[in-house]
Amino acid sequence: MEGIGGRKILVSGGGSGIGRATAIRFARLGADVAVLDINAKGAAETLDAVAVAGRRGLFVPTDVTDFAQVKDSVAKVLAEFGQIDVLASLVGWNEHSFFMQQEPEFWHKVVAINLWGQIHVVRAVLDPMIERRRGAIVTVASDAGRVGTNGETIYAAAKGGVIAFTKSLAREVTRFGIRVNCVCPGVTDTPMFQSVAEHQPEILQAVVKLIPMKRIARPDEPAETIVFLASDSASYITGQTLSVNGGLNML
Ligand SMILES: NC(=O)c1ccc[n+]([C@@H]2O[C@H](COP(=O)([O-])OP(=O)(O)OC[C@H]3O[C@@H](n4cnc5c(N)ncnc54)[C@H](O)[C@@H]3O)[C@@H](O)[C@H]2O)c1
Repeated sequence: MEGIGGRKILVSGGGSGIGRATAIRFARLGADVAVLDINAKGAAETLDAVAVAGRRGLFVPTDVTDFAQVKDSVAKVLAEFGQIDVLASLVGWNEHSFFMQQEPEFWHKVVAINLWGQIHVVRAVLDPMIERRRGAIVTVASDAGRVGTNGETIYAAAKGGVIAFTKSLAREVTRFGIRVNCVCPGVTDTPMFQSVAEHQPEILQAVVKLIPMKRIARPDEPAETIVFLASDSASYITGQTLSVNGGLNML
């Protein structure tokens, strides 16, 4: 994994799950890590692990659905770190339910967090990256946005939006030395997954049967792919969508 040591990393959604695993992996490779999240307790645990790795951590409480807040938070990170080399944009949220039974408030919340949340954070880091003519951005979507998932209709729509946004943005900003890629985790053992597992244990058992590897992912597995795509080891990769799913969908 080339070119991570000494870098300044911003992880949105770093207070839990795959975001926390990503923040810790960056720190263990020698990077300083800033976390944007609404979960202060979770972010504190992440920063403890960053400190154990001997790196500097910074938590800026931020609701990524609010663009003004995101811009202020990114300015705080720049004031502390001086630069942002990498954005890993992980914030996401969903509750398993069927489209025909949902209220519009639920649709708007899912799109606000999963699509607008990514657009806001990406836009806020672009000016300083363009100024330096370098940067790597990794968005996080889901296979739901590639193949569709029963009970995740609006989430899939938002994640499909993240994938299309990533590809189009990569075309637009490559000339500024910025790479943009997307990781689609498969079913991964995080609090988000556990909330689905509690309500729909039978669906998850059925999914595990369909996964060629016959297990769900550990959070560090998609995290490793996010860190790889952000690193100089992926210097000729941009505009790509990579699923980390144990073979569940072969795309
Ligand atoms: N776990 C899975 O099975 C799975 C599968 C496919 C895709 N994903 C995607 O991976 C990413 C990480 O998921 P995870 O499983 O680690 O989830 P998680 O729930 O463990 O972590 C998500 C983090 O986002 C934060 N967050 C939620 N809303 C926010 C907001 N408005 N502003 C700021 N922070 C907010 C939460 O506080 C939490 O710390 C998400 O984008 C998710 O959609 C997860």
